[in-house]
Amino acid sequence: MNIKKILVISYSQSGQLYNIVDKLTKPFENDNNVQITYKVIKPKKPYPFPWDFMTFMDCFPESIYLDSPQIEDIKDDTNDYDLVIITYQVWFLSPSLPITAFLKSKYAKNKLKNKPVITLIGCRNMWVMAQEKMKELLKNIDAKLIDNIVLIDQGSSLATFITTPRWMLTGKTNSLFGIFPKAGISKEDIKNVSRFSYAIKDALNKNKEKNFRSICYGLKAVNVDMKLIKSEQFATKSFMIWGSLIRKIGSYGDKKRKPLVMLYVLFLVLIILTVVPINMIIQIILRKINKEKVLKEKKLYEEPSGNDDYRMKEYSKYE
Ligand SMILES: Cc1cc2nc3c(=O)[nH]c(=O)nc-3n(C[C@H](O)[C@H](O)[C@H](O)COP(=O)(O)O)c2cc1C
Repeated sequence: MNIKKILVISYSQSGQLYNIVDKLTKPFENDNNVQITYKVIKPKKPYPFPWDFMTFMDCFPESIYLDSPQIEDIKDDTNDYDLVIITYQVWFLSPSLPITAFLKSKYAKNKLKNKPVITLIGCRNMWVMAQEKMKELLKNIDAKLIDNIVLIDQGSSLATFITTPRWMLTGKTNSLFGIFPKAGISKEDIKNVSRFSYAIKDALNKNKEKNFRSICYGLKAVNVDMKLIKSEQFATKSFMIWGSLIRKIGSYGDKKRKPLVMLYVLFLVLIILTVVPINMIIQIILRKINKEKVLKEKKLYEEPSGNDDYRMKEYSKYE
């Protein structure tokens, strides 16, 4: 068998995605048939972590418009990769800016053309619109998305609405008041990523990646929470409208943008306190009425890997 070459792309502020990459690639460590190349994306001007609130909010216009920053040159290589794994986090319902920059780089254009790509997302819980954008970015460079794996922060939507921003703004991940769980993705979910490693291993052994079809199917790779879709769509529109105004005033970091960014924050708070609860009730009713349409949409967003679990038993034996 030819040696299979895998390219793994990542960027992480807290290191969470690097831990996931470690877990995912560990089973390949002693595999002589597989060679993995890791590339870490480095913005020329690093984003802060933890963030201060103003800088955090100030990067939403560029995120939503995929206006990527400059990144350090990606060291070229002569490898012809069999599989590419792009791990990424979501920033304002879009792929994070460093990863967007990677997808627009010369290196990505050259190396990812006609290559099977697996995306692996680690985020709070709102990733569907970001993945739609990821699909477009991959299409633009003729890369072929074959799988999407999604890991989200532990706890309810309400809990992570507190724990994730607290983590981003203070760096603290500990459990709060015994009510809120630890911030970030659970240890258990990270551990269980190895089921994908073995499914990938088996598929590579059988050259299945060449078919450009899912190789991580049947492993509960994604689960779209339809309760969040309308919020994602609404928030995207609002980010685009306000983002376009803010971008007219100046670029990311420009002090002149501050008043409008703060006004937008105020607007968001008002919307969250008034429109969001009413809309939630309307959406519950609409989802009940349009059950079939909702299920169809869910399936579509879960492509190409799907939400089935029929191979879980086969691959859960691995740790
Ligand atoms: C600027 C910013 C915006 C974010 N926006 C979202 C979002 O829209 N949806 C979401 O699920 N998570 C969002 N997150 C959380 C990240 O996706 C991710 O979970 C977190 O940044 C940890 O990733 P890390 O590996 O870089 O540390 C955001 C984080 C940051 C820093």
